[in-house]
Amino acid sequence: MSQINIGLLGLGTVGNGVVNILRANRPQLAALNLKITRAAVRNLYPKREALYADIALTTDPASIVADPDIDIVVEVMGGVKDTYPLLVAALKHGKHVISANKDLLSEYGPALTDLARANHVGLYYEAAVTGAIPILHTLSQSYAGDTITRVAGIVNGTSNYILTQMVREGRTYEAALKSAQELGFAEANPKNDIEGFDACYKLLILSRFAFGMTPKLTDIDRQGITDLTAGDFKAARTLGYVIKPLAVAAMQEGKLVLTVSPQLVASSHPLASIIYENNAVLVDSLNTKEIMMSGPGAGSLPTANSVIADLNTIASAIRDNREPAPFTSLRAETVVANGND
Ligand code: HSE
Repeated sequence: MSQINIGLLGLGTVGNGVVNILRANRPQLAALNLKITRAAVRNLYPKREALYADIALTTDPASIVADPDIDIVVEVMGGVKDTYPLLVAALKHGKHVISANKDLLSEYGPALTDLARANHVGLYYEAAVTGAIPILHTLSQSYAGDTITRVAGIVNGTSNYILTQMVREGRTYEAALKSAQELGFAEANPKNDIEGFDACYKLLILSRFAFGMTPKLTDIDRQGITDLTAGDFKAARTLGYVIKPLAVAAMQEGKLVLTVSPQLVASSHPLASIIYENNAVLVDSLNTKEIMMSGPGAGSLPTANSVIADLNTIASAIRDNREPAPFTSLRAETVVANGND
């Protein structure tokens, strides 16, 4: 099979994970002949060029999305304002796109999906929601004969990590946040994590895949973890509960009700056992009742693993000379606007 050329936008925590997994050259991937030929970085310096000697580095991402030799663009640079036009250009140039950018996809996912369809290419973004957990593929494939009634989860690793450290190890909020930043879980602007915005972005994407609805950020009742005190944790424990940063989207009397907030969870409930940076998503449906998936929600290799899964999906379609299947809700066709309007 001829080589499939990948252009990487961003070489941070996740980008580096993608490079490392591809360098490991596992047999099941080797057959697809994937190669990262170019990567865009913010800064170029000799040490970096030596580390990635087999990849042509540039500080100009626009040159990658317009490069006729690139087949798949993998966007792991983050940001919305400057990044959205790059993804639009990539799709218009007929390139398949993979992204881990929840901020961008929470807002522009439907528009970009339409653009991908119009250009007969794939747009996949499993890594944008709950790191290693393949929840978007599951929602887009496994509920054909079912109706989902609720999606509830711990979808921000940093918040869960901070609360776990405060409760289990008695660390201060500040020390726990610093540690999450050092470990690479926290966003560049940790306000997104601790005030619940990151969880909101993920909940908007989950809502599209689970319910075929397109709610907006302002539809979510949002509260961060910053007001919690040691007294709150103690009171919860006394009553047999733990406090977890939950994101919930539930159908109630035909309306989608969305919340992101710290909530009491019974100590015996499966969500109570999700600690540190781990994430979990619990899906309630008419046929299956309750299914919960859990695992690492952030970090280099766990998140990169989801990018690689998307690469495998797209590269397999290229190999078989067919269009990759649209990455959407099973219900997307039936809903044209915000279901709450
Ligand atoms: N800051 C995010 C989190 C990274 O803590 O969950 C993964 O999206």
